[in-house]
Amino acid sequence: MTSTTIRSVSQESRIFEPPEEFRAAAHLSSFDEYTRIYEESITDPEGFWMARALEELVWAKPPTRAIEWEPPHAKFFADGELNVSVNCLDRHLEAGKGSKTAIVFEGEPGDIRKITYQELADEVNRAANLLKRLGAKKGDRVGIYMGMVPEAAIAMLACARLGLIHTVIFGGFAVESIRDRLNDASARFVFTQDGLHRRGKAVPLKAQVDKALEQVASVEKVIVFKRTGQEVDWVDGRDLDWAEAMTGESTDCAPEIVDAEHPLFILYTSGTTGKPKGVLHTTGGYLLSVKLSARYVFDLKDDDLYWCTADIGWVTGHSYVVYGMFANAATVMMYEGAPNHPNEARFWEIIERHRVTIFYTAPTAIRAFIRWGDQHPKAHDLSSLRLLGSVGEPINPEAWVWYYETIGNGRCPIVDTWWQTETGSIMLSPIPGATPVKPGACSHPFFGVVPKIVNESGEEVPDGTGGLLVIEKPWPSMLRTLWGDDQRFRETYFDIFPGKYFTGDGARRDEDGFYWVMGRIDDVLNISGHRLGTAEIESCLVGHPYVAEAAAVGRPDELKGQSLVAFITLKEGLEAGAEVAAKLADHVSQEIGRFACPEEIRFAHALPKTRSGKIVRRLLTKLAAGEELGGDMSTLEDPSVLDELKKKGY
Ligand code: WTA
Repeated sequence: MTSTTIRSVSQESRIFEPPEEFRAAAHLSSFDEYTRIYEESITDPEGFWMARALEELVWAKPPTRAIEWEPPHAKFFADGELNVSVNCLDRHLEAGKGSKTAIVFEGEPGDIRKITYQELADEVNRAANLLKRLGAKKGDRVGIYMGMVPEAAIAMLACARLGLIHTVIFGGFAVESIRDRLNDASARFVFTQDGLHRRGKAVPLKAQVDKALEQVASVEKVIVFKRTGQEVDWVDGRDLDWAEAMTGESTDCAPEIVDAEHPLFILYTSGTTGKPKGVLHTTGGYLLSVKLSARYVFDLKDDDLYWCTADIGWVTGHSYVVYGMFANAATVMMYEGAPNHPNEARFWEIIERHRVTIFYTAPTAIRAFIRWGDQHPKAHDLSSLRLLGSVGEPINPEAWVWYYETIGNGRCPIVDTWWQTETGSIMLSPIPGATPVKPGACSHPFFGVVPKIVNESGEEVPDGTGGLLVIEKPWPSMLRTLWGDDQRFRETYFDIFPGKYFTGDGARRDEDGFYWVMGRIDDVLNISGHRLGTAEIESCLVGHPYVAEAAAVGRPDELKGQSLVAFITLKEGLEAGAEVAAKLADHVSQEIGRFACPEEIRFAHALPKTRSGKIVRRLLTKLAAGEELGGDMSTLEDPSVLDELKKKGY
């Protein structure tokens, strides 16, 4: 933890009631109703979750126990058995929903595909049969490095069908990140694409996998979906063409029934050290949480067309593009490309063309829309929208109000949903027909969630005071451990406040009981809604032959929320300058991914350190933001470096 006091600065106090028309038709239509269910969920969690599990999920063997909690380890429905793909597909076919559209896909070049639940199930079964033929066994790990195409969801569900554990790697990651994740998970199989369409270009994906696999011994087969048709290298015996390999596979594949606590996926996320954390989610509890939260938070109805713009490579894509949505038999919009291709109206065109009813995006995107100008949304008919959502970072009240008025036309409630890769599902959010909202607040806890705001000694702070956000009781979709590193799991999340889950976020609860999340208090940044550990960037930078030492810090950014500033000491004999800076930026793009590129690089002959050799990050953060340093510098080993580092970089 780097900061001891958290100041809460948001002053917004307007309250927006759910619009009457929305309330009248909503699943939950009053605050009293929400409160009653919430109270039940926290006073009798056993009874509450058991009843919901039996109601909501199809079990091969129904559970008899709801919760086992031996901090920090939780089990939910441990003696129950089920299969996730059965709950997302087969049950809907049995209910006569085979011809309902599951996915409306729009590619960046403009191609449109609609896939029914029957077709989705057929493709998932084919892919599962292929994996079986290749020798996949329950518990094997499968890497998925793909863009936003239906085949990515098919690959995920095919894994779930066989009890394989997928690890989806965001398509924006590059070689080093892919390699480390596949190695950490010892993946046997990889799904990828030749490339994806982004801003009019064909961005290579398979080429990145090829390079990564030079240093991964565990991968036996690579299944390549041909999306762009661009040229790719081919390794005979290892690489399979998706289309060729699937033809001939049967559309029947018996589901592998697994224990409720069988792992469903690993999703790597940034922490405060260079090594990403393999967050592990399991089957029954995860599925129940995402299904229930999807239904209540998004007020999902049978005829909705729901669009979440998050990439499948992040947890939002897992929980609220794939599992939570298909578990509810929802119709999901999926768009492949950039929001500003061929122009800045693309999203509004998509909403108008397909009549999207629920739109879930990130504050970064909203701020970009504002910058691009009101003329774009104004030129399109957005009247199909009935609900808006926000996720990934705090939404500033200005952006909230713009979203509400310009996109929602004052008719659509906004759900500002707070959660994390680790929590698996939405933890704090308004319930749109029930909760009055304040712009910028994540409102109230979802069912079963017991949040507390504490000080550094773990004592609860009074309402209105900033503190650290912890969660007191286990919830069904909480992470179970970190893949291969239970010790780090304990240390990161449970040792700080024994028995309580520590979120890493600062927050406050106001006098009216609304929660406001202010953001990370550790060295994890949130750049355009992407989580990134500064330590990851630092270890990448020092991996470059020019670099002797590197530190990276965040700086407030109007558009991206935060941006990255790197401070570098070069090795002897090298000259700082724009050219070297460009090389280092390119190195980060090549290794981690473009989104992780520093916005500015500053050079000095040394970094500010204490006499014991610790880099003083607090000073670097101030330097990056252009703030006065103030304070006592006498503990620094060499205060003269500060003048060098104050100079603008490249
Ligand atoms: C931040 C994304 C404020 C927070 C689902 C959290 C938010 C981190 C919100 C998790 C929100 C997410 N308001 N902050 N509505 N939603 N965050 O793991 O700092 O990619 O800890 O999960 O994003 O990011 P992750």
